[in-house]
Amino acid sequence: MGYVITIDGPAASGKSSVSRELSKKLGVPWVSTGAFYRGLAYVAQQLKTDLDNPVALSELCFSSFWKIVLTSENTQVWFEGKNVTDKTSHEDVGNIASKISHFPEVRQSLLDHQRNCAVENIGLIAEGRDCGTVVFPRAEAKIYLTARSADRATRRAQELGLDKSVLEAQQKQRDIQDSTRKVAPMQVPDEALVIDTSELSLDDVVGKAYQFIQQKLK
Ligand code: DC
Repeated sequence: MGYVITIDGPAASGKSSVSRELSKKLGVPWVSTGAFYRGLAYVAQQLKTDLDNPVALSELCFSSFWKIVLTSENTQVWFEGKNVTDKTSHEDVGNIASKISHFPEVRQSLLDHQRNCAVENIGLIAEGRDCGTVVFPRAEAKIYLTARSADRATRRAQELGLDKSVLEAQQKQRDIQDSTRKVAPMQVPDEALVIDTSELSLDDVVGKAYQFIQQKLK
């Protein structure tokens, strides 16, 4: 029987790195649900879709112009036959993704696509903001990662080669948007293991998460 593990938390808290490592250790695929919002944001920009129009945006969720592809390294966005994942990782695309993610119509339209990533008998590790609360409320193990805002900004600044103070301000803004929206806000799911990754190495975080998952799966 497959099982679902969810990993939620704010931007740059380490969700993708931890999911990737756990996926290798457990032999279960992983998905970044943020890639769906980033993909939609990028495609909407390219097609000049009105970013304030939830109906047009949710129609775009079902368009064959773009698709999400799961690999062991990352969750890819493909648009018009090209892999555009690198383009969707820009912070400005993340900020648009955060803005359009507050539309209930958009969230609803992406929900089935996200749930369908969990193939029966194989299982899935799903990371994002509402994976443990809305996308997979019956997940076998739920984890919530957090880290000090300054540490998260430093990590993302190193990854993207950008200025830390600008990033920290943008991330704070995004955290507020993601945690205060009316539908599916970012929050700690009941029964989740909360790990503050500020002072921990990736190996330490993966170790704690792995131990928790083993207990839950017993
Ligand atoms: O995890 P990320 O930075 O790639 O996510 C980008 C944005 O997408 C995030 O700021 C809010 C939105 N998002 C969401 O609303 N729900 C999710 N499960 C994942 C991402």
